[in-house]
Amino acid sequence: MQYEAILAPLDGFADSWRDFVAGGGKGGNVTVPFKEQAYQLAEVLSARAQQAGAVNTLYLNAQGQLCGDNTDGLGLVADLTRLGISLAGCTVLLLGAGGASRGVIGPLLDAGVTYLVVANRTVSKAQAIAANFDSRVQACSLQAIPKQTYRLLINATSSGLAGERPDIDIKHLNGCQLAYDMVYGAEPTAFMQWAKQHGVPQQADGLGMLLSQAAAAFNIWRGVTPDIEPVLAMLKLQLK
Ligand code: ATR
Repeated sequence: MQYEAILAPLDGFADSWRDFVAGGGKGGNVTVPFKEQAYQLAEVLSARAQQAGAVNTLYLNAQGQLCGDNTDGLGLVADLTRLGISLAGCTVLLLGAGGASRGVIGPLLDAGVTYLVVANRTVSKAQAIAANFDSRVQACSLQAIPKQTYRLLINATSSGLAGERPDIDIKHLNGCQLAYDMVYGAEPTAFMQWAKQHGVPQQADGLGMLLSQAAAAFNIWRGVTPDIEPVLAMLKLQLK
């Protein structure tokens, strides 16, 4: 099996995929900014992909149809479980309302989350996402987060890529067990450092989520789920 990166031109995702299949390609992962285009291209969509409105895993089925799935949410749930978070009955504050946020809400609810607030700088985007779910999911701006204990705080904004963090009041950290940033890097992100400074017992970046979504994609292609721990240790060393 060969697994390599292909850099598709911004206006040529579909052509790149066709070339790949013509060259013998059987399946692939898709990352930003092509997850929505992969969703459009797929002939058969999993329920998870439909709910996320985005595809990160493509493969050809026995009939040669192009199938699209989304393992991002599974990856997050697997990583949270690895970190010792029990999602049954958990309350979650999810910051951000872009593609990263949209794909994980369904899997978090399926894993037992009972109340999830999506807070975003642009409140209309949070409202548009929450409208796809039942009353367990609420939307608000970063300034109007409901007063409540959130056991899990997830940063799904891209602010960490610019060394920033979403501007929320520290009172929302009260009772929080884990501050999880979907962004990752060599050093703890600004969001993780801020949470640590204000007494949140556990912080994690998104490297484990990245590996867990890849492991779930591997399972779709090959029927086995690789253990992420050795790869995680290796990648952490490489990031240093
Ligand atoms: P992705 O698909 O990776 O989630 P995106 O669709 O560009 O990327 O969304 C980025 C998210 O990060 C958005 O929720 C964005 O907030 P807005 O919708 O208000 O733009 C959020 N974001 C980016 N930088 C931020 C910052 N400095 N503070 C707060 N939110 C930020």
